Amino acid sequence: MKKNSAVIFMLAFFTMVTFAQQSKTSVAIIPEPVSLVEKGGVYVLPDPIIVVSPSDKEMAYVNDYLRNKLSAATGKRISVTERASQPAIRLILNKKAEKEIGNEGYTFSSTANGVTIKANTPAGLFYGVQTFFQLLPPQIESTTLVENIDWQLPQVEITDYPRVGWRGMMLDVSRHFFTVDEVKRFIDNMVKYKFNTFHWHWTDDEGWRIEIKSLPKLTEVGAWRVDKVGWFGTFSKPLPDEPKTYGGFYTQDQIRDIVRYAAERFVRVMPEIDVPGHSLAAIASYPELSCTPGAEEYSVRAGEEFMDWSHGAPPIAYVDNTLCPANEKVYDFMDKVITEVAQLFPFEYIHSGGDEAPHNFWENNPQVKELMKREGLKTMPEVQSYFGKRIEKIIQSKGKKMMGWDEILEGGITPTTALMSWRGIDAGIEASKSGHYVVMSPTNFVYIDYMQGDPCTEAPVYATLRLNQSYKFDPLPTGVNEKFVLGGQANLWTEQIYNIRQAEYMTWPRGFAIAESLWSPKEKKDWNKFVTKTEAQFPRLDWAQTKYSPAMYDPIVSVRKEGEKYFVELTPEIDGLDIYTSFDGSTPDNFYPKYSAPLLIPKDARLMRIITYRDGKPIGRLMSITVDDLKSRAK
Ligand code: ACM
Repeated sequence: MKKNSAVIFMLAFFTMVTFAQQSKTSVAIIPEPVSLVEKGGVYVLPDPIIVVSPSDKEMAYVNDYLRNKLSAATGKRISVTERASQPAIRLILNKKAEKEIGNEGYTFSSTANGVTIKANTPAGLFYGVQTFFQLLPPQIESTTLVENIDWQLPQVEITDYPRVGWRGMMLDVSRHFFTVDEVKRFIDNMVKYKFNTFHWHWTDDEGWRIEIKSLPKLTEVGAWRVDKVGWFGTFSKPLPDEPKTYGGFYTQDQIRDIVRYAAERFVRVMPEIDVPGHSLAAIASYPELSCTPGAEEYSVRAGEEFMDWSHGAPPIAYVDNTLCPANEKVYDFMDKVITEVAQLFPFEYIHSGGDEAPHNFWENNPQVKELMKREGLKTMPEVQSYFGKRIEKIIQSKGKKMMGWDEILEGGITPTTALMSWRGIDAGIEASKSGHYVVMSPTNFVYIDYMQGDPCTEAPVYATLRLNQSYKFDPLPTGVNEKFVLGGQANLWTEQIYNIRQAEYMTWPRGFAIAESLWSPKEKKDWNKFVTKTEAQFPRLDWAQTKYSPAMYDPIVSVRKEGEKYFVELTPEIDGLDIYTSFDGSTPDNFYPKYSAPLLIPKDARLMRIITYRDGKPIGRLMSITVDDLKSRAK
């Protein structure tokens, strides 16, 4: 190359790079702030970066986080001090509380001279710092040095505070076990999007995961099951001599460590002991807790079919996975468990489950019949309510409040019980109207264990929840008594989630949609803008090495039957996509006919393939669906 052409080439290259970097600094904050004004211009981070910040104990992590994250990616020297004349970044705790921003809000200002974040609390400053990072180039998420980046952010003025106070995520560590480091990573990802409550689902039919020192068999026996891989729920029954090699549990020291870790990040941790149903791991450890001790050799479930749901709720259990409400030993057991649990958690609530408890083993049990007579209980939900009230007394005796899944409403609850509304929002609305505190976590908006794309690209789960549907989540729906709604929560059940990468894939980007639903004012929500911001977040997740789902680029496939003919309709979830298909087994590209109207499935076709493009480039995943599968979906 001649010298002149080399210079021209280099200039063109740097112009392109600069342009790309500038476009990357466009503002795309999730969740959307309450008010944001872009003033034009940027602030270029200097070197060294001097940060002025309070040295309060609660600020220790915020200051470390800022220092470590900034220095890792930028390589700049960072100093955090209480006083300096010309700091690049100033964190200020308001001397007089600013009412508008409350306990978790902040104001943020970036000018040509630096960044100022103010809040009434360290939590507010932490959320302001999260916003600061989202204003920097995505490479800031790298844990190692990234060179040749303009470390700059746009000049903006932000005032921001959350819509609701409970912004939760639940992780089920029973069906599959996640290590201490993985749980911490899950919390780290939550706080980037301003979630503040971690609901830790510890016990279920598939594993008991918390050390209870007075009940050692819970973890010696209840934490272990036969290891199976495939489609959870369809596995063959474990044989008596199959080794139980899958599992694990958290020691109390590990739990204290995670609770402390979460608290540094302003996350409250709510433990869940799911009773009286979902208790097979406890029963495998202590069979006398069931109404049917000795009926069979109980073992922790390893994913075999064990419930009949064909009659609706409650299910009929093939194996007794319920604690016996007529057995005093059960209440002694729960007292021991709750005593130890309560000492591990500063948070005010303990979740005691109450969902999906089969009643069929209770119905035939003489002690339960006697209990019903003695207590004047007429129905099985009333028996469960009796159980729930006794559990609440135990929880209260340890200085805590009880929360349960919405089934507990059926047999009646005490005025002090709080409810997590999961089978839709109706139970939550009803409970709030009668003065019960409620967390909204309805399946049809926030069950992030559901598939987010077509079954051909997803691990199999019985239901689908697309990103656009999660975005419609409203924790304060019409009819609710807002005074009693604590907030909302996404739930990640893990039957079909075998590792943390898949847990991340299921969580993001639906976690963005739920974060925005919980934090941002309703009138600020805007689907098209959210999609653009989500796309701007993806490179951040790439740099952070966090997995996420690209399902929003894949169309929604629906099939219609007319007489003997089947038509496939493809609906893009987001704007701007071109869809190409084939029925001949080949992989379509953008030279194939573009999809524009429902397609008749050719008579002898066996396989349909689908791919989306944007601006002439493939962006969706290659979807391959057999014609038999398509026909089985026909409406
Ligand atoms: C639930 O999803 N069973 C609460």
